[in-house]
Amino acid sequence: MFGRMVLAVAGNPAVRTTVTASPLSRPVVSRFIAGEDVESVLASIKALHDDGLRVTLDHLGEDITDAAQAQVTVGAYRVLINRLADAGLADGNEISVKLSALGQSLGAEGPARATEAVWDLAAHAYRHGVDVTLDMEDHTTVDDTLETLRTLRADFPRAGCVLQAMLHRTEGDVRELAVDGSRIRLVKGAYAEPASVAYQVKADVDRAYVRNLRILAESPAYPMVATHDPRIIRIAEQVLTPAGSESEFQMLYGIRTGEQLRLADAGHTVRVYVPYGTDWYGYFSRRLAERPANMGFFLRSLVSA
Ligand code: FDA
Repeated sequence: MFGRMVLAVAGNPAVRTTVTASPLSRPVVSRFIAGEDVESVLASIKALHDDGLRVTLDHLGEDITDAAQAQVTVGAYRVLINRLADAGLADGNEISVKLSALGQSLGAEGPARATEAVWDLAAHAYRHGVDVTLDMEDHTTVDDTLETLRTLRADFPRAGCVLQAMLHRTEGDVRELAVDGSRIRLVKGAYAEPASVAYQVKADVDRAYVRNLRILAESPAYPMVATHDPRIIRIAEQVLTPAGSESEFQMLYGIRTGEQLRLADAGHTVRVYVPYGTDWYGYFSRRLAERPANMGFFLRSLVSA
């Protein structure tokens, strides 16, 4: 309910303009965003590596309205991959890509164009030993995103995708995709979805997460357990054994960093989702919507300045 309300308010263009233009937003934004350019994100990656953590990198941006912007996104990821390779940071790391940043929703040709763009990107990434995972956006995009995933996997079998426990359909998608080595990032889901397609109560989403986790754990797939939820992490530590081999934990940059280190120290592979770039508003709004305390902190920082 709270999250739904925050996302509705955040969708208002006047709110967007006010928040993005205000320098007062920056200190709170920087808790969740690693930096605005490649150089600052490289520094963050090095620091995370020093702590024994791996990364998946998100060049921020989504819902483009002009097809030309897709090439800007692809170009930015290419520069990033080149810089990772130059710095010796490519191997074992990953990029996360939103297909709406590649024009998936731009007309009838959108899904095919986005597939073509992400295929080019994947070819570049895999040449340098960088994995690719498709983020999942709202429920209307799932079929197209999974279709893109199938195309990608024909040439890049390690290409991964996100599945959202909150959606009723996900259990079926997990069963279908949980084949040998299939990299599946299981999340709860960050979008405001209608009751016709998604669980509305947190306890139901949590239960669905655990059901899907158990399916993955018993399959030959490679589960990427993306959550900060202490209860689910405890369950995952029990069902995914042995530590560090056939699965990994993933968390967002700036959230539960102590727990990230604890899991890495226990021998698990831990990957941090590191967003960077100037187009941070959509990502930032979802982080505020996930937790009333974040919103309170953000509002206090604006008022007390
Ligand atoms: P839950 O929301 O129950 O939080 C559990 C605990 O974690 C909280 O009590 C708090 O301590 C901490 N926490 C969670 N969110 C926090 C926040 N914003 N700030 C501070 N503390 C917080 N979603 C999606 O729809 N599509 C996608 O592609 C992705 N991709 C993705 C990648 C990775 C690596 C992660 C970790 C998450 C995503 N998500 C996502 C987001 C996901 O759907 C979900 O909204 C968040 O992870 C929050 O849910 P939790 O599972 O952490 O549980």
